[in-house]
Parts: sequence; structure tokens; C-alpha cells
Amino acid sequence: MDFRDDFVEKLKNAKSIVFFTGAGISAESGIPTFRGNEGLWKKFKPEELASFDAFIRNPDLVWEWYTYRRKIVEEAKPNAGHLAIVEMEKYFEDVSVITQNIDNLHNRAGSKNVYELHGNIERNYCIDCKTYYSADELENWSGAPRCKMCEGLIRPDVVWFGEPLPHYVFSTAEAIAKNSDICFVVGTSAIVYPAAYIPHSAKENGSYLVEINVEPTEISHWVDYSLIGKSGVILPDILNQLEKIK
Ligand code: OAD
Repeated sequence: MDFRDDFVEKLKNAKSIVFFTGAGISAESGIPTFRGNEGLWKKFKPEELASFDAFIRNPDLVWEWYTYRRKIVEEAKPNAGHLAIVEMEKYFEDVSVITQNIDNLHNRAGSKNVYELHGNIERNYCIDCKTYYSADELENWSGAPRCKMCEGLIRPDVVWFGEPLPHYVFSTAEAIAKNSDICFVVGTSAIVYPAAYIPHSAKENGSYLVEINVEPTEISHWVDYSLIGKSGVILPDILNQLEKIK
């Protein structure tokens, strides 16, 4: 793929880059996205499965939904897009990943600085005493598991609708985005706030915004460069470009 000259120039000079990622980066690993025709929110209702009220109303159902999603994630592997981001650490002083995904694939790929805005499906905690549990520890439960310390209900460590983002993670991520030279917005519809403030903050503070998506989104008209195509193809292409110029 041939890239525009101003982008190549930015790549040459950038010291700090950040990736703001969404479900689309994991689509090529076989993990369903949320919106669009095949999206999870076409088949399931978020208010019945992804809120604290829903969990208290029907913990077994919510647990079943997360067990289903955890299974997909565990069977998936990081794809060429995740891996290209890791390789880019060779070419810049700072490479950070700010992700809305809970699938753990950036960590499994080997990215060093990952900020998970919406939590991680492999972690769980007791809603009463806050004891943490790994997915492996809870493998043999049927229905919603109970805390071995206090018998409280155990929930996945993910952000549900109506819940705040982890404050420290969000404020650190926002500061990193503001200080970046290039901010890549990859595989996200960029409409779920407050996470979607990240590209705004980056741009307002002078970062060069590059969007990578299979189709135009709500933010395409104001980014500096919109690249249409699969992230598993475009990110390795950017890596090839870096190998030539850095
Ligand atoms: P969405 O499902 O809203 O958007 C996925 C985006 O990825 C779309 O814009 C697709 O066009 C794009 N896409 C699909 N395949 C791609 C590929 N191979 N390469 C590049 N782009 C591709 O998912 P998110 O933006 O991540 O929140 O959704 C944001 C939040 O909404 C999620 O974190 C989740 C959801 O409700 C919570 O659960 C709190």
C-alpha cells in the first residue's frame, strides 16, 4: 500500500505513538464486533446482559453470556494487526495501546503498555469483598460463581453500561494520547463515550490522527488521514513502511 507523503513524514519524525483500538482489530481473530450486521448487539440486548442490574436480576444468565464470550476469546489468537503493533515498539520511543476491548489479545500479542478502558474478561472479582479471581480458578462452576472468602457473587472485571471507567486508567490514557505525535484509531465505531474522547483529546493537543477501519465512521471527516481496509493488512503495511524509512 502506498501512503500519503505527509503521513510518511510524520512516521519518520514521531517519537511517541498511540493506538486507540476497538472490536474491529480483533475481528480477524474471529471475535465478533458489537455493531454492524453481524454485531453482538444485533442479536443480544445490552441492557439484559451487560449491566449491574441485569447481573443482580439474573446472575446465571449474565455469567453464561460471559462464559460464552470468554470461550471465543480463549480459542482466538492475536492476528497480524496486534502483532504489527508490537513490532512497532522497535521504531519509536513510546508505543501505547489504549483499548476498549476486553479480550486480552494486545497483552497476549506482547504489547508492553496496554491500557484497558473497559476491563478484561479474564479477570473477575467478588462484588462484596473485592477478592480477585482468574478465569482458570472459576472454570468448574456452573452458573454464577461465589466467593470462597465471603460467599458473595463473583462478576467479570469489565465495565458495564451505566458504570464509570476505571479512573486512573482513563486519566493516564488520556494524558498519553494528548502527548502523542500520532494517534491511530483502529477498528472502532468511536461512538461510545467516555472512551471515544481519546481521539478528540489527542487531536486537540496536536496529535496527527490516522483512522484504520473497513468503512468510514463518524470521525472519518475530521481525522488527518483515513485508511480504509482491514487492520490485519494495513498495520503490517505500515510496519513495512517503517522498515524502509527508520
Ligand atoms: P463496534 O462494533 O462498535 O465497531 C467495530 C468497528 O470495527 C466498526 O467501525 C467496523 O467497521 C470496524 N471493523 C470491523 N472489522 C474490521 C477490520 N478487520 N479491520 C478494521 N476495522 C474493522 O466496536 P467498538 O467500537 O469497539 O463497550 O465498540 C465500543 C464499545 O461498545 C465496546 O467496547 C463495548 C460496546 O458496547 C462495552 O462493553 C462497555
